[in-house]
Amino acid sequence: MSQSKCDHGHKHRGKSSEHLVEKEKIIANLSIQPGQKVLDAGCGNGYMAKEFARQVGSSGRVYALDPDACSIRRLKEEIQGTVIEPFVDDITKQTKLAPDSIDLIYLSTVLHGFTAAQMQDFVVEVKRLLKPGGILAIVEIKKGETPFGPPQNKRLSPEELANTLGMRSIGLVEVGQHFYMQRFRIKDLPPTY
Ligand SMILES: C[S@@+](CC[C@H](N)C(=O)[O-])C[C@H]1O[C@@H](n2cnc3c(N)ncnc32)[C@H](O)[C@@H]1O
Repeated sequence: MSQSKCDHGHKHRGKSSEHLVEKEKIIANLSIQPGQKVLDAGCGNGYMAKEFARQVGSSGRVYALDPDACSIRRLKEEIQGTVIEPFVDDITKQTKLAPDSIDLIYLSTVLHGFTAAQMQDFVVEVKRLLKPGGILAIVEIKKGETPFGPPQNKRLSPEELANTLGMRSIGLVEVGQHFYMQRFRIKDLPPTY
């Protein structure tokens, strides 16, 4: 894809939550460990992928995927020499990542755009990718009056999100005036005897 197509093609690429969420609070509630593998799905400009890279350190890996080739190309230019691997992909389809390989899958303001069919396919891919004990963390815009955001009928309350995913929440926290983060553990760790 040419530079000019990315710079001047006025395709809507989705608004960044970068200056609207509390990054430190998000990180504090994710308990990311050095060496872990994290996936930022629908990474946009990749600002959280960069935060995750600091947490996983040089022995870890951060995969940053987005269907938007221009976002991925820009991110690739910025993160050379880091543990971040940006690539074009769609989290509602089977990605190139290996099964049972990811400790944390993170999506910020991506899910409300999915159709019901995409949501089902997303759950299939998340279940394929997460290691036993791995975490799915979703940041979404609260329902109700906000100065920005999708129409109310597109938004999901934390309860609706859990029901839609068919998953049990293991934690809910406010991560900015208008945002919440909900975490889910999908595959339990095997019992230790
Ligand atoms: C509102 S933006 C949020 C970007 C970033 N996560 C943030 O919080 O700033 C939504 C992003 O989701 C991406 N997206 C849309 N459909 C997707 C899909 N099926 N799989 C992965 N990402 C998707 C868009 O390309 C866009 O970058």
